[in-house]
Amino acid sequence: MRFTDRVAIVTGAGAGIGKVTAGLLAAQGAIVAVNDLDAAAAAATIDDIQANGGQALAIPGDVADEGFAIEAVAEVMRVLGRIDILVNNAGVSVVAPAEDFVAWDRVLRTNLYSQFFWSKAVAKAAMIPAARGAIINVASIAGLAAVPNQIGYVVSKHGVVGLTRSLAVEWGRYGIRVNCVCPGITATDLTTGSSGMDPARLSARIARVPLGRMGTAQEQAETIAFLASDEASYLSGLVLNNDGGQMALHSGVMM
Ligand SMILES: NC(=O)c1ccc[n+]([C@@H]2O[C@H](COP(=O)([O-])OP(=O)(O)OC[C@H]3O[C@@H](n4cnc5c(N)ncnc54)[C@H](O)[C@@H]3O)[C@@H](O)[C@H]2O)c1
Repeated sequence: MRFTDRVAIVTGAGAGIGKVTAGLLAAQGAIVAVNDLDAAAAAATIDDIQANGGQALAIPGDVADEGFAIEAVAEVMRVLGRIDILVNNAGVSVVAPAEDFVAWDRVLRTNLYSQFFWSKAVAKAAMIPAARGAIINVASIAGLAAVPNQIGYVVSKHGVVGLTRSLAVEWGRYGIRVNCVCPGITATDLTTGSSGMDPARLSARIARVPLGRMGTAQEQAETIAFLASDEASYLSGLVLNNDGGQMALHSGVMM
């Protein structure tokens, strides 16, 4: 129960990595504010948490709307009085060649601007006054190297890496730790769902993972929870790829 008496916000917690992370933090004692654009999905996450004996509160809405972020953070502070952990997880991916890509604004706002909006709102309202806090930004290995046909995603996730380092450097003085997880290919709706990746492309990606398989949402959630915990009390500014060894494979040659 390493998060007893702590309050956490998890964005995009209606599915995938965010949902499992919210459940894991709650199972270890945190009261979790569950955000998702899909209000029914957020409600289902809360039902699961409560069914397992945990506590949660819904803050459905669009993470890319800064006004909403400020209001939602104020609501969590009004109801729970503190915010110890922020997991900036919500993200979308749009696949198109760079020359045809039109979703630039939506992807950048959802994946990158949102993380700045929520970090700023939580820091000002809760973490700077309390002189403590842990922010975990979910980037991607697409934040460390380019993948074709996902220019908005790649640029947004590179931005998340820079955001993490900037905030870690600026807010260390307030006792706020800011770290970043870069998942490799992980089995969620984003990859294996109906609007996920083309199966041939997915197989080709998996073939380039030294561990020979996709990661699970649970494996990403465990890493996020570790970074949120006191066990990581001297970690800040870390950009951690959780990718089955994929980023180690620079040669392009598999055994
Ligand atoms: N699955 C992977 O292979 C993988 C790899 C690298 C990084 N990631 C990152 O992990 C994070 C979670 O991805 P996932 O695989 O769990 O995806 P997912 O699609 O399973 O879940 C994402 C959730 O975010 C919500 N969401 C989308 N836009 C939102 C918005 N504007 N406001 C609030 N909620 C919104 C969706 O409704 C959904 O519930 C994302 O940031 C993604 O880029 C995933």
